[in-house]
Amino acid sequence: TVPSLATSDGFLQCLSAAIPEELLYMQSSPSFTSVLVSSIRNPKFSTPSMVKPLVIVTPTNASHVQAAVVCGRQNDVRIRVRSGGHDYEGLSYRSARPEVFAVVDLANLRSVSVDQTAATAWVDSGATLGELYYAISKASNTLAFPAGLCPTIGVGGHLSGGGFGMLLRKYGAAIDNVLDATLVDANGRLLDKEAMGADVFWAIRGGGGASFGIVLSWKVNLVSVPPTVTMFSVPKSVNEGAVDVLTKWQEVAPALPDDLFIRVLVQNQGANFQSMYLGTCDTLLPLMGSSFPELGLNRAHCKEMSWIQSVPYIYLGSTATVADILNRATSTTSFSKATSDYVRQAIPKDVWVQIFAWLSKPNAGLMITEPYGGKISSFPETATPFPHRDGVLYNIQYMNFWSAATDGSAQTKWLKDFYTFMAPYVSQNPREAYVNYRDLDLGENTVVGNVTNYEAAKVWGEKYYKGNFERLAMAKGEVDPDDYFRNEQSIPPLVPSK
Ligand code: FDA
Repeated sequence: TVPSLATSDGFLQCLSAAIPEELLYMQSSPSFTSVLVSSIRNPKFSTPSMVKPLVIVTPTNASHVQAAVVCGRQNDVRIRVRSGGHDYEGLSYRSARPEVFAVVDLANLRSVSVDQTAATAWVDSGATLGELYYAISKASNTLAFPAGLCPTIGVGGHLSGGGFGMLLRKYGAAIDNVLDATLVDANGRLLDKEAMGADVFWAIRGGGGASFGIVLSWKVNLVSVPPTVTMFSVPKSVNEGAVDVLTKWQEVAPALPDDLFIRVLVQNQGANFQSMYLGTCDTLLPLMGSSFPELGLNRAHCKEMSWIQSVPYIYLGSTATVADILNRATSTTSFSKATSDYVRQAIPKDVWVQIFAWLSKPNAGLMITEPYGGKISSFPETATPFPHRDGVLYNIQYMNFWSAATDGSAQTKWLKDFYTFMAPYVSQNPREAYVNYRDLDLGENTVVGNVTNYEAAKVWGEKYYKGNFERLAMAKGEVDPDDYFRNEQSIPPLVPSK
């Protein structure tokens, strides 16, 4: 039910009493739109028809976040929390259904404090990955953090869903390196790891954002990298044997030494093999010569640099500088839609031929494949809510793009049809998906008796979490039994009957 204007008024009064006015942006405020769009990464969610928040709260300390939750609870206004705004469905700042809600935007809460001796850091959720990586590199050139590639991603959402990048084979996902966290729960209490308890601390590391409360900060384990890493990028067109090289890559990439990560961008009639190796070109070349000669790597492909230089290099291009990873603004003008798969059995060569035919159709998108194996695959499926571990060869992300000039229906249809085509060749029962590549087409919640329905949520929940879904629902039942923090794909509460 949409709260009446009267309860909304009560909510705004409650906020104004607890939080300085300059940190509150009502819809009538001249800055409302610029604050709202400040971290929207997919402009399809900033069109006028979107269901927007009643107010955006931009806290500068924990007590503001606690007050926002207490006011929301008292007045029946739900809160959506935004860290970096990269959610593929925009759930951190828009509602897919008519609803009166507020956004707590954590962009002001973004400090990073590195303890070089202990090789740990406390990072606020509102920091970007770029800010975290930069702060680590200022403390040491041999420390790093294993997380995603795009520097504008928010720590809050990323660590809530898993978080992986070029270091995933050596050091696992971001969540595998979280040591502690602080959380504002649905009662407005500020809890650390001990106070939230083992079940909730397990759940917030991979159970997806927005279900258990608002994570304010994370203590993370930093990992060691050599002073020099080697990057390469080797494109292969279909005419140059891309099908054979990709077919081989599926078996080789997940079994290589953990120091070597080779992802592939597959688009049009070509595959671009992009890599980071934790070492120098001198040691990489013989390794590639013996394990993956089909790629034809030679010295001219090698680009040696520090780990921190690899961050702008891989995502922003070879002319970008390390300082560029601090830029929180992006100028994305293309609209997009994405979804994901996990592959557990190598896809046959003849199917790769058909995949390239799909990628050559009108309005086609692209796929990005990232190999697992190594550390990320070494954890039991139950270690964290993120279940895509032993036996996964690689993750696939499908994406398609269009401009504001079209409605995107042809591009989204291509994505849907290609996803259907891929069904026999990817993981099954459930068909696994990565929650950080959120896709509402996998299923949306239904609310029954003012609580999200567990059975209906299983449809999408088991894709993201496999057998961990039930345990996540139990953790939700512990920390938020009234289902205050809910959205179209939040974890439903399971409360044991007394
Ligand atoms: P955003 O603020 O939109 O939040 C995402 C979800 O988490 C929302 O439901 C939100 O309410 C919730 N949330 C946010 N902050 C929270 C908090 N403090 N406490 C509780 N809940 C919170 N992924 C990956 O693993 N590797 C990669 O390399 C990439 N690359 C990439 C590139 C680009 C361009 C995009 C758009 C996305 C990626 N991703 C990715 C996916 C990314 O990890 C995912 O979208 C994250 O959830 C984004 O986190 P943000 O904080 O930016 O999002």
